[in-house]
Amino acid sequence: MRVLGIETTCDETAAAVVRLRPEGGGEILADEVVSQTAEHAAFGGVVPEIAARAHIDYLDGLIARALEKSGVSLADLDGVAAAAGPGLIGGVMVGLTMAKGLALATNKPFIAVNHLEAHALTARLTDGLDFPYLLLLASGGHTQIIGVLGVGEYRRLGTTVDDAIGEAFDKVAKMLGLPYPGGPQVELAAALGNPRRFDFPRPMLRRPNADFSLSGLKTAVRLEIGRHSALRDRDIRDLCASFQAAVVDVIVDRVRAGLKLFREKSGPPRGLVVAGGVAANRAIRDALTRFSAEAGLSLALPPPRLCTDNGAMIAWAGIERLRLGLTNGMDFAPRPRWPLDPAAERVHNGKA
Ligand code: KG4
Ligand code: ZN
Repeated sequence: MRVLGIETTCDETAAAVVRLRPEGGGEILADEVVSQTAEHAAFGGVVPEIAARAHIDYLDGLIARALEKSGVSLADLDGVAAAAGPGLIGGVMVGLTMAKGLALATNKPFIAVNHLEAHALTARLTDGLDFPYLLLLASGGHTQIIGVLGVGEYRRLGTTVDDAIGEAFDKVAKMLGLPYPGGPQVELAAALGNPRRFDFPRPMLRRPNADFSLSGLKTAVRLEIGRHSALRDRDIRDLCASFQAAVVDVIVDRVRAGLKLFREKSGPPRGLVVAGGVAANRAIRDALTRFSAEAGLSLALPPPRLCTDNGAMIAWAGIERLRLGLTNGMDFAPRPRWPLDPAAERVHNGKA
């Protein structure tokens, strides 16, 4: 089984071809991505209109390259998958329409993939992990702890009540005058700084739920910056190191709470998976490696390239759905919002 996957929900345009191995797990035959970082850098964040136009510019070339590199022709595909949300509507429309057009023209099944589900299932592509498992999904737009029980079966155990973790990294970077996207810049500066110089708060620590809150920590960094008349390089490094140390402590504590909830509700998980752009952070990877070892939990940390947005995860989620017979019609509409666990979402919004 071979599926083409298309990703256009944010500021990465990506196309990939993935094959299902007969023995389980997947093989990435081609994985093409163009990051639009340069287009958005001047604005300090993703500009939806610019992103949508850039997806239009890049997408057909990327698909052609992915097919060529994989040696798979359109006729050889078993399906075409695209991320249909959640994300920026203009970009989602570009990828979704392209996938529908290709599926229609070649008479192949079309699969509408939830971008978050694709992140959640990546560890099965890379590590062949079995259900059920505990997932920490941490990116610029999402911070969730999820029980992954099966394809399409997700229980949200925790989420952020304010900023996403990646967003907090980006905002702290901006306050310190570091370039966008800030996460990698903060990590680089932190590696040279003193994590104990500033005693920043660790919000939500030891709360029994697995929720996050990052805005108080961000404000504490802003107040500390305000106490300095001028920031020297040393100060920037120490601020980054102290901020990152606080985030690491919060993440480990929240994952511990999530693991407890998972065990109470669903029994022992087969492992812990970390996904999303923030999972590229070395300090966070190291802390979760130590935590998993202590908890006796196997840890799946997909390589950073597969933690950030990519086409291979969309193709893989397409395979997971296609082999269960879960395909979609041409009337599938783009979804700017598309929670993995709608029941939890309703409770969160006070509607249930
Ligand atoms: O998953 P992703 O590529 O895109 C979405 O947000 O969907 O995640 C990007 C986010 C950004 O906020 C970026 O600053 C953060 O992940 N990030 C990092 C690191 N690399 C990327 N945060 C902390 N440390 C990093 N090394
Ligand atoms: Zn993502």
